[in-house]
Amino acid sequence: MKNVQATAPGKIILFGEHAVVYGRPAIAVPVTDVRARVGLQTTGSGKGFRIIAADLGRDYLLVDAESDDPLATIVQIALKHLGQTVPDATLTVTSTIPLGRGLGSGAAVSTAIVRALGQFFEYNLPPADVSDLAYEVEKLHHGTPSGIDNTVVAFEQPVYFAKGRPIRRIRVGQPLTLVIGDTGIVSPTRETVGDLRRRRQAEPECYEGYFDEIEVLVDQAKVALEQGLPGLPAIGKLMNENQELLESLGVSSPELEQLIKAARQAGSPGAKLSGAGWGGNMIALIPARPEVITAVTKALADAGATGVIVTELR
Ligand code: PMV
Repeated sequence: MKNVQATAPGKIILFGEHAVVYGRPAIAVPVTDVRARVGLQTTGSGKGFRIIAADLGRDYLLVDAESDDPLATIVQIALKHLGQTVPDATLTVTSTIPLGRGLGSGAAVSTAIVRALGQFFEYNLPPADVSDLAYEVEKLHHGTPSGIDNTVVAFEQPVYFAKGRPIRRIRVGQPLTLVIGDTGIVSPTRETVGDLRRRRQAEPECYEGYFDEIEVLVDQAKVALEQGLPGLPAIGKLMNENQELLESLGVSSPELEQLIKAARQAGSPGAKLSGAGWGGNMIALIPARPEVITAVTKALADAGATGVIVTELR
């Protein structure tokens, strides 16, 4: 009997979402306060491979899964990579990462499943392999993903990421505090990315100009983050500038902007949407003082946030 457990964190994009799809760099960090958890247990029942995702109300056999089922797809891709046949086992998936809100839920579930299968077959999978396998499923979720979600989740470290370039780890000078506010609106990444693609095709020069401006501020943000606390005002200013550019790209929304405004009024020096936009989450940088944490958390809840996470960036 084998019984293994694996987990993977959520993530947020600090700077550079959307522009990263067009080859510009972006910065993302893991959010360890929320996690996807996977258990994998041999059953010996002769019934094959069963997948139970209670949060999604699903319980099915691998052989019965639809061809685009993300959980079944990652299981099959990982088994192939490990050179293993389908075991007689039950895979249980749970997650505290809200779905479809830019917190990397899909990438985290894929990563936790790959890690569990690696452990099950006693195979030490390097993060780069885990990331590559999870990327295959990101294509199902996102259509044309940049690869930033699977990278930050599988490496579980702050990353400066650009498609096709080696991954660079960011060493945050001193821990920083972030508040994540949820609009409660599910926004499929595929839709915002697809919509922006159409607009960029119609006016390439205009949108490439925005992406170039984002690239400049991502590079400045990397330097400021490496300074840590002394860089706080600069990081906040860059977050606000990034938000303005995301508004120009047409991926913000009134609900996101309401939360962003509330956070700034309550003492955040910088706030922006995080991820695909149109819904999902926003993030606000705050000084790590209890009264500011309380004020910003309350302001977000009063402004309609359906969930608030306070996390430390380190
Ligand atoms: O899935 P989300 O909400 O984390 O957004 C991903 C970030 C995008 O830049 C919008 C898309 C991508 O593939 O990088």
